Order: sequence, then structure tokens, then C-alpha cells
Amino acid sequence: MRVLVIHGPNLNLLGERQPEIYGRQTLDEINDFIRTNARDLGLEVEFVQRNGEGEIIDAIHAARATYDAIVINPGAYSHYSYAIADAIASVRIPVVEAHLSNIAGREAHRRTSVTAAACAGSVSGFGQNSYVLALRAVAQIQGK
Ligand code: DQA
Repeated sequence: MRVLVIHGPNLNLLGERQPEIYGRQTLDEINDFIRTNARDLGLEVEFVQRNGEGEIIDAIHAARATYDAIVINPGAYSHYSYAIADAIASVRIPVVEAHLSNIAGREAHRRTSVTAAACAGSVSGFGQNSYVLALRAVAQIQGK
């Protein structure tokens, strides 16, 4: 089973970006952690990071033909991008949202995720483990 992990805007700066919230690990280090855990789950993962809303929509569209599921962290777009929510709702493969921080416990504008509403479910607040928990969820959805 092949899963595409999509990292949204500003996540390329992990490690230097607000480490008190997002930790000190770089995106490459987090991807290594995800890949190792995915292997244990019997999943094959690939990664993309995009800053643009349209680029994320294009990545979701492209994934529908070649992947069995998507794990996505839409970053700040989570809170207001109906276009990304529509893209998620437009594909048949399951999509699970992941957030490093606990968005439910942060500023008011972060507490709602319009994209999560279009997903099969979401995981938030467990740092890099949020992605692994999201992978477990897609494996379960796909009966793996
Ligand atoms: C985030 C939470 C968002 O509110 C924020 O804009 C991010 C990262 C997270 O992973 O905790 O860019 O998606």
C-alpha cells in the first residue's frame, strides 16, 4: 500500500521555525522517522512539501491515481482553505489530517480545521508521532 504524505506551507522551515511549538527536528528528520515507522506498518511512503494552495490541490489530484491514501498536514490552510477541503472531498482515496501541535488548544483561529472536516479523520498534538498515528489510521481504513 502506497501513501503520499503532503506537508503544507512553512513546514520546510521545521527545526528553525518556532521550535518551542514545533520542536527542533527538521522536515527531513521527521520524514526519516515517518519512513521507518511506515516500513514497520508495511506501508510505502513518499513525501511532498508545498507552500502554495494550488500546488497542494494539484498534489492531491495527482495522488488519486497512484496512491492508496494520503496523510496531509495542510498547515495554516487547514483553518480556511475550502479549496483544499474540496480537493480532499473530490478524491476517493482516504485522506487523514495530521498536525504536530494540538490545534484544539491553540489560538482561536487555529481551533477549527475546515480541511479535517473533509478527511476521514485527524490527529493533532503528538509531534512527529501524529503522522505515524495518521498512517496507522489509513492502514486500518484500508484493512491492512
Ligand atoms: C500546524 C498547525 C497550524 O495551525 C500551523 O499554521 C502550521 C502547523 C501543525 O502541524 O501543528 O503551519 O499544521
